[in-house]
Amino acid sequence: MHKIMKHVLQSQQFDRPRLEHLFEQATVLRQAWQKDKKALRNLFPGEVLCNLFYEVSTRTRISFELAAKYLGMDVVGTEDARTFSSAVKGETLEDTIRVLCGYGIRVIVIRHSGEGSASRASSVCDQFGVSVINAGDGCGQHPTQSLLDLYTIQNEKQRIDGLTVAIGGDLSHGRTARSLAYLLSRFSGVKIMFVAPQDLQIGEDILTHLTEHGVPFVLTDKMDEALPVADVVYWTRLQKERLQASEGGVKTPYLLDRGSLTLMKSDAIILHPLPRTDELSNEVDDDPRAVYFRQAENGLFIRMGLLQSILGTTS
Ligand code: NCD
Repeated sequence: MHKIMKHVLQSQQFDRPRLEHLFEQATVLRQAWQKDKKALRNLFPGEVLCNLFYEVSTRTRISFELAAKYLGMDVVGTEDARTFSSAVKGETLEDTIRVLCGYGIRVIVIRHSGEGSASRASSVCDQFGVSVINAGDGCGQHPTQSLLDLYTIQNEKQRIDGLTVAIGGDLSHGRTARSLAYLLSRFSGVKIMFVAPQDLQIGEDILTHLTEHGVPFVLTDKMDEALPVADVVYWTRLQKERLQASEGGVKTPYLLDRGSLTLMKSDAIILHPLPRTDELSNEVDDDPRAVYFRQAENGLFIRMGLLQSILGTTS
Protein backbone atom coordinates (compact mmCIF):
# COMPACT_ATOMS: atom_id res chain seq x y z
CA MET A 1 0.00 0.00 0.00
CA HIS A 2 1.46 3.35 -1.00
CA LYS A 3 0.95 6.51 0.98
CA ILE A 4 -1.39 9.07 -0.49
CA MET A 5 0.56 11.76 -2.29
CA LYS A 6 0.11 15.30 -1.06
CA HIS A 7 1.77 17.36 -3.76
CA VAL A 8 3.77 16.75 -6.94
CA LEU A 9 6.49 19.39 -6.83
CA GLN A 10 9.72 17.84 -8.03
CA SER A 11 11.03 14.60 -9.48
CA GLN A 12 13.21 13.79 -6.47
CA GLN A 13 10.12 12.96 -4.41
CA PHE A 14 9.56 9.79 -6.49
CA ASP A 15 11.53 6.78 -5.31
CA ARG A 16 11.67 3.59 -7.31
CA PRO A 17 8.74 1.74 -5.67
CA ARG A 18 6.58 4.84 -6.12
CA LEU A 19 7.58 5.08 -9.79
CA GLU A 20 6.85 1.42 -10.41
CA HIS A 21 3.49 1.75 -8.70
CA LEU A 22 2.57 4.83 -10.74
CA PHE A 23 3.44 3.02 -13.97
CA GLU A 24 1.22 0.09 -12.98
CA GLN A 25 -1.62 2.50 -12.15
CA ALA A 26 -1.22 4.27 -15.51
CA THR A 27 -1.36 0.97 -17.37
CA VAL A 28 -4.44 -0.24 -15.51
CA LEU A 29 -6.17 3.11 -16.10
CA ARG A 30 -5.23 3.03 -19.77
CA GLN A 31 -6.70 -0.44 -20.21
CA ALA A 32 -9.96 0.48 -18.48
CA TRP A 33 -10.23 3.72 -20.48
CA GLN A 34 -9.47 2.05 -23.80
CA LYS A 35 -12.22 -0.48 -23.18
CA ASP A 36 -14.76 2.15 -22.20
CA LYS A 37 -14.00 5.88 -22.03
CA LYS A 38 -16.76 6.35 -19.45
CA ALA A 39 -15.61 3.49 -17.19
CA LEU A 40 -13.69 5.68 -14.73
CA ARG A 41 -16.19 8.51 -14.44
CA ASN A 42 -17.51 7.33 -11.09
CA LEU A 43 -14.10 7.45 -9.40
CA PHE A 44 -13.95 11.03 -8.10
CA PRO A 45 -17.29 12.75 -8.69
CA GLY A 46 -17.56 16.18 -7.12
CA GLU A 47 -13.81 16.65 -6.72
CA VAL A 48 -12.57 19.82 -8.40
CA LEU A 49 -9.31 20.42 -10.26
CA CYS A 50 -8.13 23.93 -11.08
CA ASN A 51 -5.71 24.49 -13.97
CA LEU A 52 -3.81 27.68 -13.23
CA PHE A 53 -1.48 28.36 -16.17
CA TYR A 54 0.61 31.53 -16.24
CA GLU A 55 2.64 30.20 -19.18
CA VAL A 56 1.53 28.73 -22.48
CA SER A 57 0.69 25.04 -22.70
CA THR A 58 -1.11 22.64 -24.99
CA ARG A 59 -0.37 19.06 -23.91
CA THR A 60 0.03 19.51 -20.18
CA ARG A 61 -3.06 21.64 -19.61
CA ILE A 62 -5.39 19.72 -21.90
CA SER A 63 -4.24 16.29 -20.78
CA PHE A 64 -4.68 17.28 -17.12
CA GLU A 65 -8.15 18.59 -17.91
CA LEU A 66 -9.11 15.40 -19.70
CA ALA A 67 -7.45 13.12 -17.13
CA ALA A 68 -9.55 14.80 -14.42
CA LYS A 69 -12.76 14.63 -16.49
CA TYR A 70 -12.28 10.96 -17.37
CA LEU A 71 -11.98 10.32 -13.61
CA GLY A 72 -15.27 12.13 -13.01
CA MET A 73 -13.83 15.37 -11.63
CA ASP A 74 -14.97 18.89 -12.40
CA VAL A 75 -12.41 21.23 -13.93
CA VAL A 76 -12.08 25.00 -13.70
CA GLY A 77 -9.18 27.25 -14.52
CA THR A 78 -7.54 29.74 -16.77
CA GLU A 79 -5.34 29.05 -19.75
CA ASP A 80 -3.57 32.37 -19.52
CA ALA A 81 -3.48 33.57 -15.94
CA ARG A 82 -0.97 36.27 -16.90
CA THR A 83 -3.68 38.02 -18.89
CA PHE A 84 -6.96 36.77 -17.46
CA SER A 85 -6.37 36.51 -13.72
CA SER A 86 -6.02 39.20 -11.08
CA ALA A 87 -2.24 38.82 -11.48
CA VAL A 88 -2.75 41.62 -14.03
CA LYS A 89 -3.95 43.83 -11.19
CA GLY A 90 -0.89 42.94 -9.14
CA GLU A 91 -2.29 40.17 -6.96
CA THR A 92 0.39 37.96 -5.42
CA LEU A 93 0.48 34.26 -6.17
CA GLU A 94 -0.06 33.54 -2.49
CA ASP A 95 -3.28 35.60 -2.37
CA THR A 96 -4.64 33.99 -5.53
CA ILE A 97 -3.95 30.50 -4.18
CA ARG A 98 -5.45 31.31 -0.81
CA VAL A 99 -8.67 32.50 -2.40
CA LEU A 100 -8.90 29.41 -4.65
CA CYS A 101 -8.44 27.20 -1.59
CA GLY A 102 -11.68 28.62 -0.18
CA TYR A 103 -13.74 27.49 -3.18
CA GLY A 104 -13.71 23.74 -2.56
CA ILE A 105 -10.94 23.01 -5.06
CA ARG A 106 -9.07 19.79 -4.29
CA VAL A 107 -6.10 19.97 -6.69
CA ILE A 108 -4.37 22.99 -8.25
CA VAL A 109 -2.20 22.35 -11.31
CA ILE A 110 0.10 25.31 -11.73
CA ARG A 111 2.49 26.43 -14.47
CA HIS A 112 4.40 29.62 -13.78
CA SER A 113 7.57 31.30 -15.00
CA GLY A 114 8.99 31.63 -11.49
CA GLU A 115 11.25 28.84 -10.27
CA GLY A 116 9.89 27.58 -6.93
CA SER A 117 6.37 28.94 -7.62
CA ALA A 118 4.66 25.55 -7.19
CA SER A 119 6.41 25.07 -3.89
CA ARG A 120 5.29 28.57 -2.78
CA ALA A 121 1.72 27.67 -3.73
CA SER A 122 1.96 24.41 -1.78
CA SER A 123 2.90 26.25 1.43
CA VAL A 124 -0.39 28.14 1.22
CA CYS A 125 -2.38 25.04 0.22
CA ASP A 126 -1.05 23.01 3.16
CA GLN A 127 -3.26 25.02 5.50
CA PHE A 128 -6.35 24.02 3.51
CA GLY A 129 -5.67 20.39 2.57
CA VAL A 130 -5.43 21.31 -1.11
CA SER A 131 -2.85 19.57 -3.33
CA VAL A 132 -0.54 21.27 -5.82
CA ILE A 133 0.90 19.76 -8.98
CA ASN A 134 3.86 21.51 -10.58
CA ALA A 135 3.20 21.70 -14.33
CA GLY A 136 6.45 23.59 -14.93
CA ASP A 137 8.12 26.30 -12.85
CA GLY A 138 10.36 28.44 -15.06
CA CYS A 139 13.77 26.83 -15.54
CA GLY A 140 13.12 24.64 -12.48
CA GLN A 141 11.29 21.38 -13.07
CA HIS A 142 8.42 19.73 -14.91
CA PRO A 143 7.98 16.51 -12.92
CA THR A 144 4.82 15.20 -14.60
CA GLN A 145 6.52 15.44 -18.01
CA SER A 146 9.53 13.46 -16.79
CA LEU A 147 7.23 10.82 -15.30
CA LEU A 148 5.57 10.29 -18.65
CA ASP A 149 8.99 10.33 -20.33
CA LEU A 150 10.23 7.58 -18.04
CA TYR A 151 7.00 5.60 -18.44
CA THR A 152 7.49 5.78 -22.21
CA ILE A 153 11.06 4.48 -21.90
CA GLN A 154 9.86 1.61 -19.69
CA ASN A 155 7.06 0.72 -22.13
CA GLU A 156 9.19 0.92 -25.25
CA LYS A 157 12.39 -0.70 -23.93
CA GLN A 158 10.85 -2.87 -21.18
CA ARG A 159 13.55 -1.64 -18.80
CA ILE A 160 15.36 1.45 -17.57
CA ASP A 161 18.30 -0.15 -15.73
CA GLY A 162 21.44 -0.30 -17.82
CA LEU A 163 20.34 2.16 -20.52
CA THR A 164 22.51 4.88 -22.02
CA VAL A 165 20.40 8.02 -22.40
CA ALA A 166 21.48 10.97 -24.58
CA ILE A 167 19.73 14.17 -23.50
CA GLY A 168 20.25 16.96 -26.01
CA GLY A 169 19.29 20.56 -26.70
CA ASP A 170 18.92 23.59 -24.47
CA LEU A 171 19.71 21.93 -21.16
CA SER A 172 20.39 25.11 -19.22
CA HIS A 173 16.82 26.39 -19.60
CA GLY A 174 14.92 23.15 -20.28
CA ARG A 175 13.10 21.96 -17.19
CA THR A 176 12.07 18.59 -18.65
CA ALA A 177 15.72 17.53 -19.08
CA ARG A 178 16.44 18.46 -15.47
CA SER A 179 13.47 16.52 -14.08
CA LEU A 180 14.31 13.49 -16.21
CA ALA A 181 17.92 13.42 -14.99
CA TYR A 182 16.69 13.26 -11.38
CA LEU A 183 14.39 10.34 -12.18
CA LEU A 184 17.04 8.40 -14.10
CA SER A 185 19.28 8.53 -11.03
CA ARG A 186 16.84 6.12 -9.32
CA PHE A 187 17.92 3.30 -11.66
CA SER A 188 21.07 1.24 -11.78
CA GLY A 189 23.59 1.04 -14.58
CA VAL A 190 22.13 4.12 -16.30
CA LYS A 191 24.59 6.39 -18.12
CA ILE A 192 23.64 9.90 -19.24
CA MET A 193 25.22 11.86 -22.09
CA PHE A 194 24.31 15.55 -22.03
CA VAL A 195 24.60 16.97 -25.55
CA ALA A 196 24.65 20.76 -25.64
CA PRO A 197 26.87 23.68 -26.55
CA GLN A 198 28.84 24.84 -23.53
CA ASP A 199 26.59 27.86 -22.86
CA LEU A 200 23.45 25.69 -22.87
CA GLN A 201 24.80 22.77 -20.82
CA ILE A 202 22.95 21.22 -17.88
CA GLY A 203 23.26 22.90 -14.47
CA GLU A 204 25.90 22.05 -11.88
CA ASP A 205 23.16 21.14 -9.40
CA ILE A 206 22.14 18.21 -11.61
CA LEU A 207 25.75 17.07 -12.04
CA THR A 208 26.29 17.20 -8.29
CA HIS A 209 23.15 15.10 -7.75
CA LEU A 210 24.29 12.52 -10.31
CA THR A 211 27.76 12.32 -8.77
CA GLU A 212 26.26 11.84 -5.30
CA HIS A 213 24.07 9.03 -6.65
CA GLY A 214 26.88 7.31 -8.54
CA VAL A 215 25.38 7.93 -11.99
CA PRO A 216 28.07 8.21 -14.69
CA PHE A 217 27.61 11.08 -17.12
CA VAL A 218 29.39 12.68 -20.06
CA LEU A 219 29.11 16.28 -21.22
CA THR A 220 29.63 16.74 -24.93
CA ASP A 221 28.91 19.32 -27.59
CA LYS A 222 29.03 16.71 -30.38
CA MET A 223 25.84 14.86 -31.17
CA ASP A 224 27.77 12.37 -33.31
CA GLU A 225 29.55 11.21 -30.16
CA ALA A 226 26.27 10.39 -28.37
CA LEU A 227 23.95 9.08 -31.09
CA PRO A 228 25.81 5.83 -31.91
CA VAL A 229 25.89 4.64 -28.29
CA ALA A 230 22.51 5.86 -27.01
CA ASP A 231 19.61 3.50 -26.27
CA VAL A 232 17.38 6.51 -25.71
CA VAL A 233 17.74 9.83 -27.53
CA TYR A 234 15.84 12.58 -25.68
CA TRP A 235 15.81 15.74 -27.79
CA THR A 236 14.61 19.19 -26.73
CA ARG A 237 14.09 22.61 -28.31
CA LEU A 238 15.86 25.88 -27.67
CA GLN A 239 13.82 27.64 -24.95
CA LYS A 240 13.74 30.95 -26.83
CA GLU A 241 11.36 32.56 -24.37
CA ARG A 242 13.85 32.03 -21.53
CA LEU A 243 16.95 33.43 -23.24
CA GLN A 244 18.30 36.76 -22.02
CA ALA A 245 18.48 39.51 -24.64
CA SER A 246 22.26 39.02 -24.62
CA GLU A 247 21.78 35.37 -25.66
CA GLY A 248 19.57 36.26 -28.63
CA GLY A 249 21.96 34.79 -31.17
CA VAL A 250 22.25 31.41 -29.45
CA LYS A 251 21.16 28.38 -31.49
CA THR A 252 21.07 24.67 -30.78
CA PRO A 253 23.21 23.30 -33.57
CA TYR A 254 21.56 19.92 -33.22
CA LEU A 255 19.14 18.96 -35.90
CA LEU A 256 17.94 15.39 -35.67
CA ASP A 257 17.14 14.40 -39.25
CA ARG A 258 17.28 11.46 -41.64
CA GLY A 259 21.09 11.56 -41.60
CA SER A 260 21.16 11.29 -37.79
CA LEU A 261 19.03 8.14 -37.98
CA THR A 262 21.83 6.32 -39.79
CA LEU A 263 24.16 6.93 -36.83
CA MET A 264 21.76 5.52 -34.25
CA LYS A 265 21.38 1.99 -32.92
CA SER A 266 18.66 0.03 -34.69
CA ASP A 267 16.78 -0.52 -31.41
CA ALA A 268 17.22 2.99 -30.00
CA ILE A 269 14.17 5.16 -29.30
CA ILE A 270 13.72 8.90 -29.90
CA LEU A 271 11.77 10.96 -27.39
CA HIS A 272 10.90 14.66 -27.40
CA PRO A 273 8.67 16.46 -24.85
CA LEU A 274 7.26 18.61 -27.70
CA PRO A 275 6.66 21.18 -28.99
CA ARG A 276 9.43 20.79 -31.56
CA THR A 277 10.81 23.69 -33.51
CA ASP A 278 13.86 23.33 -35.72
CA GLU A 279 15.82 20.63 -33.84
CA LEU A 280 13.72 17.64 -34.96
CA SER A 281 12.91 17.15 -38.62
CA ASN A 282 9.58 15.62 -39.57
CA GLU A 283 11.62 13.27 -41.77
CA VAL A 284 12.14 11.31 -38.54
CA ASP A 285 8.43 10.83 -37.78
CA ASP A 286 7.93 7.68 -39.82
CA ASP A 287 10.99 5.92 -38.45
CA PRO A 288 9.93 3.14 -36.05
CA ARG A 289 12.37 4.52 -33.46
CA ALA A 290 10.42 7.79 -33.19
CA VAL A 291 8.09 7.42 -30.20
CA TYR A 292 7.33 11.07 -29.32
CA PHE A 293 3.66 11.03 -30.29
CA ARG A 294 3.05 7.89 -28.22
CA GLN A 295 5.02 9.63 -25.45
CA ALA A 296 2.58 12.56 -25.51
CA GLU A 297 -0.38 10.14 -25.33
CA ASN A 298 1.12 8.51 -22.26
CA GLY A 299 0.74 11.83 -20.47
CA LEU A 300 -2.99 11.29 -20.15
CA PHE A 301 -2.57 8.06 -18.22
CA ILE A 302 0.33 9.18 -16.04
CA ARG A 303 -1.69 12.26 -15.08
CA MET A 304 -4.71 10.11 -14.27
CA GLY A 305 -2.43 7.96 -12.10
CA LEU A 306 -1.10 11.01 -10.28
CA LEU A 307 -4.61 12.28 -9.57
CA GLN A 308 -5.56 8.85 -8.28
CA SER A 309 -2.53 8.84 -5.98
CA ILE A 310 -3.50 12.24 -4.61
CA LEU A 311 -7.23 11.64 -4.26
CA GLY A 312 -6.98 8.44 -2.43
CA THR A 313 -7.51 5.10 -4.05
CA THR A 314 -4.00 3.88 -4.61
CA SER A 315 -4.90 0.43 -5.86
C1 NCD B 1 7.75 21.42 -22.14
C2 NCD B 1 7.76 22.52 -21.11
O1 NCD B 1 6.77 23.25 -20.96
O2 NCD B 1 8.78 22.65 -20.43
N1 NCD B 1 6.50 21.29 -22.76
C3 NCD B 1 5.67 20.29 -22.39
O3 NCD B 1 5.03 20.38 -21.36
N2 NCD B 1 5.65 19.18 -23.12
C4 NCD B 1 8.84 21.46 -23.11
C5 NCD B 1 9.06 22.74 -23.87
O4 NCD B 1 8.29 23.67 -23.81
O5 NCD B 1 10.06 22.78 -24.60
